[in-house]
Amino acid sequence: MLRVENLNKTFTTGVFKRRRHKAVDQINFTIAPREILGLVGESGCGKSTLARLLLNLIPSSSGKLYFKGQELTGMRGRELRKIRGKMQIIFQHPESSLNPRLKIYDSLIEPMRIQNLLPSKTVEREKVLDLLHQVGLAEEHLTRYPHELSGGQIQRVVLARILAVQPEFIIADEPTSMLDVSVQAQVLHLLKDIQQKHAMSFLFISHDLALVQWISERIAVMYRGQIVEIGPAQDLCNNPRHPYSVQLVETFNWFQENKREKSCSSETTNQAIHAWEGCAFAPCCPKLSPVCRQKPELRRIAEKHDVACWHA
Ligand SMILES: Nc1ncnc2c1ncn2[C@@H]1O[C@H](COP(=O)(O)OP(=O)(O)O)[C@@H](O)[C@H]1O
Ligand SMILES: [Mg+2]
Repeated sequence: MLRVENLNKTFTTGVFKRRRHKAVDQINFTIAPREILGLVGESGCGKSTLARLLLNLIPSSSGKLYFKGQELTGMRGRELRKIRGKMQIIFQHPESSLNPRLKIYDSLIEPMRIQNLLPSKTVEREKVLDLLHQVGLAEEHLTRYPHELSGGQIQRVVLARILAVQPEFIIADEPTSMLDVSVQAQVLHLLKDIQQKHAMSFLFISHDLALVQWISERIAVMYRGQIVEIGPAQDLCNNPRHPYSVQLVETFNWFQENKREKSCSSETTNQAIHAWEGCAFAPCCPKLSPVCRQKPELRRIAEKHDVACWHA
C-alpha cells in the first residue's frame, strides 16, 4: 500500500544564526494492505513530521514515497488531489479539523462535494446518516455546531468525514491524546472496528506504547528522527532488541507498576549529541561501546524484525 525509501526532512531555523535540524532521518518502511502499523516514540522525535511527509503536506528533503506502486514525490495538481482522497489523516486536535461555522451536516457533505462523490440531493442525506451511524452518532447531532459537541464526539465526526471519501490509508496522529481515558478507549475501539470493516491500511502514531501495542500488528520505534526498530507487535514488546525499545518497554512496565514517569529524556542529551555522528541513542545507552561511533542501519535479526543497533 505504502512504501517509503530513504526519506529525509531537514528544517532550517533561525534568522541570523541558521541551524539545521534533521527531523526525519533516512526512513524506510512499508505498510501492507489492511495492515495497522504503529509508530511510537517520545514527543519531538519526528512522528508528526513523518506523517505530514507521507501525505505530501510538506516537501521532503530527499527520498521516495510510493502509494499503491505510484510515486508520490513531485506529483502535483489533479493527480495528487485524487490520491489525497485515498490517504487521510486524523490529527491530535480534533477541533482544528472542523470548520467551527459549519453545522455537522455541512461538515460531512463538504469532503464528498470536493471529491465529486455526491450523485443527488436525496441520497445525500442517506449517505450522511449512514456515516453518522458508522461512527456511533445519531441524527440529532447533524444540526449542531462543533462547539456543542464533546471532544470524543468531534473525533467521531472527523472520522465520519474521513470515511465519506472512502480512503484506503489512514494516518491517526495521536488521535486520542486530548481525550479523557474512558473516551479514549471508545474511540480506539471504533478506529479498530472501522479499519477492519473497510479493510484499510492504518498508521497509528502515539507516544504511548500501551495504545500502540493494543491496536497495532507491527510496531516501528522512532528515536530522534530514525526508526531504530521495527517488528511484529508482540515480538517487539516481549523481546525488544534495541536498547531504546528496551527502555520504552521497561518504562511502560515500570509505569504500570508505579504509576509515575521515568525516562531518559532527549532534552538532557541535546548538548552531548550535537557533534556526534554515530548512533543517536548512544548518550543514553547502557550498551555504549566504541562501535557506536558509527551510525547503525536497520538490519534483519528475526522474521520481519529489523533493528538498528550494533549490539542487537
Ligand atoms: N515547521 C518546522 N520548522 C522547524 N522545526 C520543526 C518544524 N516542525 C517540526 N519541527 C521540529 O522537528 C522535530 C520533530 O517534531 P514533530 O514531528 O512534531 O515530533 P513529534 O510529533 O514526534 O512530537 C521537533 O524538534 C520540532 O521542533
Ligand atoms: Mg506529534
